[in-house]
Amino acid sequence: MQQPVLEVRGIRKEFPGVVALDGVDFRLFPGEVHALIGENGAGKSTLIKVLTGVHPADGGEVVLAGSQVWIAGPLQAQQAGISTVYQEVNLCPNLSVAENIFIGREPRRFGLINWAAMRRRAAELVRELDLDIDVSAPLNSYSIAVQQLVAIVRAVDVSAKVLILDEPTSSLDRDEVRQLFAVIRRLRDQGVAILFVSHFLDQIYEICDRMTVLRNGRLEGEYLIGELNQVQLVSRMIGAELAGLDQLGGGKRRERTAPAGGTAFLQADGLTRRGAVDPYDLAIRSGEVIGLAGLLGSGRTEAARLLFGADQSDGGTLRIEGAETVLRSPRDAIAHGIAFCSENRKTEGLVGELTVRENIVLALQAARGWLRPLSRTAQDAYALRWIRALDIRPGNPEALVRNLSGGNQQKVLLARWLITDSKLLILDEPTRGIDIGAKAEIQKLVANLAEDGMAVLFISAELEEVLRLSHRVGVLRDHRMVAQLDNDGELTPERVMATIASGADQ
Ligand SMILES: Nc1ncnc2c1ncn2[C@@H]1O[C@H](COP(=O)(O)OP(=O)(O)OP(=O)(O)O)[C@@H](O)[C@H]1O
Ligand SMILES: [Mg+2]
Repeated sequence: MQQPVLEVRGIRKEFPGVVALDGVDFRLFPGEVHALIGENGAGKSTLIKVLTGVHPADGGEVVLAGSQVWIAGPLQAQQAGISTVYQEVNLCPNLSVAENIFIGREPRRFGLINWAAMRRRAAELVRELDLDIDVSAPLNSYSIAVQQLVAIVRAVDVSAKVLILDEPTSSLDRDEVRQLFAVIRRLRDQGVAILFVSHFLDQIYEICDRMTVLRNGRLEGEYLIGELNQVQLVSRMIGAELAGLDQLGGGKRRERTAPAGGTAFLQADGLTRRGAVDPYDLAIRSGEVIGLAGLLGSGRTEAARLLFGADQSDGGTLRIEGAETVLRSPRDAIAHGIAFCSENRKTEGLVGELTVRENIVLALQAARGWLRPLSRTAQDAYALRWIRALDIRPGNPEALVRNLSGGNQQKVLLARWLITDSKLLILDEPTRGIDIGAKAEIQKLVANLAEDGMAVLFISAELEEVLRLSHRVGVLRDHRMVAQLDNDGELTPERVMATIASGADQ
């Protein structure tokens, strides 16, 4: 058998009150794509942070190409050949693609940056991976997906042995995922070892050769992809037997009968904002779930922001409970009973330095006004109720949000908007980064809220999820609402895809 390029033995990492990694063994071979799998909080990101020198391990050893190493910091990890591309791309958007690939290690001649050589080498690297990217264009002229590919090109060129991708596909559409996978396969064939973290099991089965399952900070096992089917894998992840994927919401769709008649809670007529979204009509009744489908950048979020006063419309009208209304700010919208859970948990969402409790009550407190502070008892009650309902871990309301795993942070953000007891709940990618069990729970919760009379606008890149929940699906393409399809049981992901692709209902 071949020697692993990277091996860890008995790795231990403790945070105050939590053992994040408890004696984990893990091996990565050259030329394989290896999945790291586990529930939210299982320890995946922590293991990666240990491997990349972000957190020092409290115990255990790291062996690289046969010799033990001590990874003391990110630079050392890089020198040892371990590179990471995080979900948030850390590049300089207004520099060119070539500059981004060579930042900090520009080819020089007589002490000056040799621009021509830099562009030439960047173009070569991009071509080797079969990417169609103009390296002299500014990075921000490309989509996030392409920017992420540029980050990969850079990472691999800096040090090409081990490439770690932590949830790289969570904000990519299908074509972009395909493009990313093509690059991953090419790198694998060149002998790079790739560690892939994702909550999308279908993607794991498509791209990975082997997998390591973590549960509660412990190694559960190491498997070849063919050794376990998805149901078996999920039971290994959660440590319980499962009858079938149906229990995870992965199977049958619920019957979606739309609520009968009545005036719409919200009605948009020709609502528009120049450059963001073309005029669109949309009616949402109480008890109704409207899905928004479309590729990344198609205008789904932009359309929703007009309904929350986050952006101002410059045409059309908006009626709320029959009365024409202008939403000047999110505060206006909240006062009208509208909640918006943003996809952007970093920039528009959570405050890492505050506790779980403080983050959860933030929107409710803002809606009441700061002159009427919620009592501490009320805050505790809200926090505990939603920690339990969404199974937020750790279940301590006083934990700092920045110390929670990615998926658990997402749940805190969702809880914040659920407690505002709104009449219209706008959810933009609410299950991104959430593990498969918790995702099914959240879908159930949304369906129940609608059954109790809440109007819901549900935005997600996962069509299966949109179809499972929505009564009607608005399809956006190039900033235009091109169709609204009734989810009558005949609607398939394929038909929605075809509508997205062609710009008209097929
Ligand atoms: N800086 C920190 N301080 C305290 N606890 C932490 C810190 N970072 C992580 N943890 C805890 O360590 C455990 C593992 O978290 P980790 O981020 O590795 O999970 P994960 O498997 O990446 O989950 P997800 O799928 O949600 O991203 C969690 O209980 C988390 O709360
Ligand atoms: Mg994580």
